[in-house]
Amino acid sequence: MSTTNMSPATSEPRPTYLSDYRPPAYRATHTELKFDLAPSSTRVTALLHLERHPDSSGERPLVLHGEKLSLQRIAIDGQELQEGEYRLDEETLTIEHAPDRLRLETEVDIDPASNTALQGLYVSNGMFCTQCEAEGFRRITFYPDRPDVMATFSTTLIGDQQQLPVLLSNGNPVERGELPNGKHFVTWEDPFPKPSYLFALVAGQLEKVEDRFTTMSGREVLLEIWVEPANIDKTEHAMRSLKAAMKWDEETYGREYDLDRFMIVAVDDFNMGAMENKGLNIFNSAAVLTHPHTATDAAFQRVEGVVAHEYFHNWSGNRVTCRDWFQLSLKEGFTVFRDQSFSADMNSAPVKRIEDVSFLRTAQFAEDAGPTAHPVRPDHYIEITNFYTLTIYEKGAEIVRMLRHLLGWETFRKGSDLYFERFDGQAVTIEDFVGCMAEVSGHDLDQFMRWYSQAGTPEIDAIGEYDYAKGEYRLTLRQRTPATPDQPDKQSLHIPVRVGLVGTKSGEDLTLTLENPEDQENLDKGGVLHLREEEQTFVFTGLNEAPIPSLLRGFSAPARLRFPYGRDDLAFLLKHDSDGFNRWDAGQRLAMLALEDLIAAHRNGVEKVMDPRVTEAFRGLLTTPTDDKAVLAEMLTLPSEAYIAEQQPVVDVDAIHAARTFVKQSLAGALRDEFLALYQANRSDAEYAPDAEQIAARSLKNVALSYLMSIEDDEGIALAGQQFEADHNMTDVRAALTLLVHSSRGDIADPALRAFGEKWAHDPLVMDQWFSLQVTRPQSDALDRVKYLMAHPAFSLKNPNRVRALIGAFVGQNRVNFHRLDGAGYELLADVVIELNKLNPEIAARIITPLTRWQRFDEERQALMKAQLERIRAEDLSPNVYEVVEKALAA
Ligand code: TRP
Ligand code: ZN
Repeated sequence: MSTTNMSPATSEPRPTYLSDYRPPAYRATHTELKFDLAPSSTRVTALLHLERHPDSSGERPLVLHGEKLSLQRIAIDGQELQEGEYRLDEETLTIEHAPDRLRLETEVDIDPASNTALQGLYVSNGMFCTQCEAEGFRRITFYPDRPDVMATFSTTLIGDQQQLPVLLSNGNPVERGELPNGKHFVTWEDPFPKPSYLFALVAGQLEKVEDRFTTMSGREVLLEIWVEPANIDKTEHAMRSLKAAMKWDEETYGREYDLDRFMIVAVDDFNMGAMENKGLNIFNSAAVLTHPHTATDAAFQRVEGVVAHEYFHNWSGNRVTCRDWFQLSLKEGFTVFRDQSFSADMNSAPVKRIEDVSFLRTAQFAEDAGPTAHPVRPDHYIEITNFYTLTIYEKGAEIVRMLRHLLGWETFRKGSDLYFERFDGQAVTIEDFVGCMAEVSGHDLDQFMRWYSQAGTPEIDAIGEYDYAKGEYRLTLRQRTPATPDQPDKQSLHIPVRVGLVGTKSGEDLTLTLENPEDQENLDKGGVLHLREEEQTFVFTGLNEAPIPSLLRGFSAPARLRFPYGRDDLAFLLKHDSDGFNRWDAGQRLAMLALEDLIAAHRNGVEKVMDPRVTEAFRGLLTTPTDDKAVLAEMLTLPSEAYIAEQQPVVDVDAIHAARTFVKQSLAGALRDEFLALYQANRSDAEYAPDAEQIAARSLKNVALSYLMSIEDDEGIALAGQQFEADHNMTDVRAALTLLVHSSRGDIADPALRAFGEKWAHDPLVMDQWFSLQVTRPQSDALDRVKYLMAHPAFSLKNPNRVRALIGAFVGQNRVNFHRLDGAGYELLADVVIELNKLNPEIAARIITPLTRWQRFDEERQALMKAQLERIRAEDLSPNVYEVVEKALAA
């Protein structure tokens, strides 16, 4: 498979196609590496044990990937190669006539210190580290850098004893010693064959915390978390999460850890959340470090989820890996599903589901509706790093979740066991995974496979009719998937629709009896209706009261479901639905109907009037005792501006903001005392713990405070001030500070902001929060604040966390100001993209996303956004940004 080739004629990057897949001509069986580490010039010596792939004909040459490598020496079986015996270009090294079995030695020099793309070997805060997924290894040495080449690795690291006392790589340390000139070395061996994307090394001045885990077969595993010395008190939660994840994977999937040692390293400069390198996971420090005074509850939960995600990859990704990068969701979709299930078990399961679905429906649905829409298994790409998307990860996880529900847990688990057993040590495809599920269940999953090949979010239109005389309810479901850029015509999907019928008299779930025996059989097996045709009618019989349907319970498929619910129906479901997810969703739908009226009123310049049914529904929520505070907090949270926008045919950012603010203020005005009581009832002086109970109470308290602050209630302001001053934990401090900074009360907010900024100037992860909360304020000075803060000493365009905290938060979460009608928000983002295109193309191609969604806005904004995209296109672009901008402008 070739990668991002530049075609000579046009110098435009060429795509790679799934249909062009061929096994490699040669594979590596064992790889010996030696690194002589120095910031600006690291010498990498590689000895590759290569052999011709059994499926490869004798004619194909030996082709190795290599980028930005300065070749010093090359030899085959000890014989130096002369010029003319090999060919080098920007991306490959080719040897035309290599033996069928050979030992290839190369020596190259690389420059980690100037590597701002953060792929391959780079330096972060004086520390060496690597990021090789997807195609970073080729920036380290010449190699068949593709996931279907799996070798054992032996790695020797050499570095200055003072500067680089800690030298880590995959597997087990087998030898260490001192060398002349103040240097030392450590040799690591990884006995499990792995693709190059799972290689890692770390070298620097690090400290560790240590723990132990005894696996289910009684083996003891050493656990280490390595951090900069200043962060040693921020590792406890990650360690606890790791042990919980190891235990959970044994109990839930029967998967045991395989090496004697498992290491996590925290790194400040990192493009993504974390990386599952074999035995040596490298983490963005934001996804591992926590302390009650520096990290919010959300950050604690993210750490728990990411630690588990990377750990779970040891089986779903490492032991069984991907044949090629088109299969990325094979490991990512499955692993996200696994980490979501783990977090659900550790915390409030319904809240976890609500959070995951909100994220999917807001961000992934938007991706599906935009110019970069792609299937969960794409069939071509220009730059693979652009395909680490919400579709691959989140929609991919929903597909695995559908399989789990279609098969039932026990059969799904059998399929998972079969998959791990049959393909252990191999690089496989999505067919291999789904094939195991079909085999153990006897299900025909051919139509189901379309979920992987067809892009776009299916829409389900439902209508229902109750025949009182017959006691029958006829539910008709119609499916349709809108066209996406490369796929004008869509086929019907196999959609599991979980349903309930809620009796309008009893408020209880009615017994479901379907007229059609086949439908009944499916319903009995998995509680779902199988929608396979474009339109299907399901007839429920034997009903003695009129029902309201509860559809797509638990969000049983990643689809948009429409049903002509009346507001009273929704208020009823909000009270009575036995499905916790749909109860929440009924509240969201009810709020959406009111919001849509208000958006229209705002556009038409008509006075806004609050729908009393929404107020009464909220009053009901606030006055009915509940033992599930976590869910209540979600129920009291209005749909986000991004989610509301996602529902609009043409997004009107100002009307959305005005309507949502109006609803919030109306509710706060009408239910002030209830919110105040809720706040008081959920205060606590208990010592901070990131447990489900405390987290629920804090979110409820802070939701209540946000209502009080929306009307700038005097008591609310006083409480926010006190909460900030009390400095009990970062969750409460940040919530209070954010509400103050987003209010008109600069007299209180400004000194608090200053104090916070001074107190935490030394802690970049806290300063990130300080940046974000300022640039998301709705007032019109937000954009000026962004520019001002970009010059702050704590900000740097070279650090992805800083970019996300300041620029990402502004363009993604401050919709009214990013979409200013003078175009200044768009211009600012384009300026940043142009800079980042040179420094870190991967981050540039991500941060640009809001500009690519221009089609969703009014004509004036469309023109302004397109003009900035054109401005970017005129630059000398990386393949990453090129691919995204081309798609956006072709739309
Ligand atoms: N496999 C990683 C994960 O999902 C993703 C990842 C981390 C990554 N860093 C990256 C992908 C850099 C591309 C580039 O856990
Ligand atoms: Zn992953």
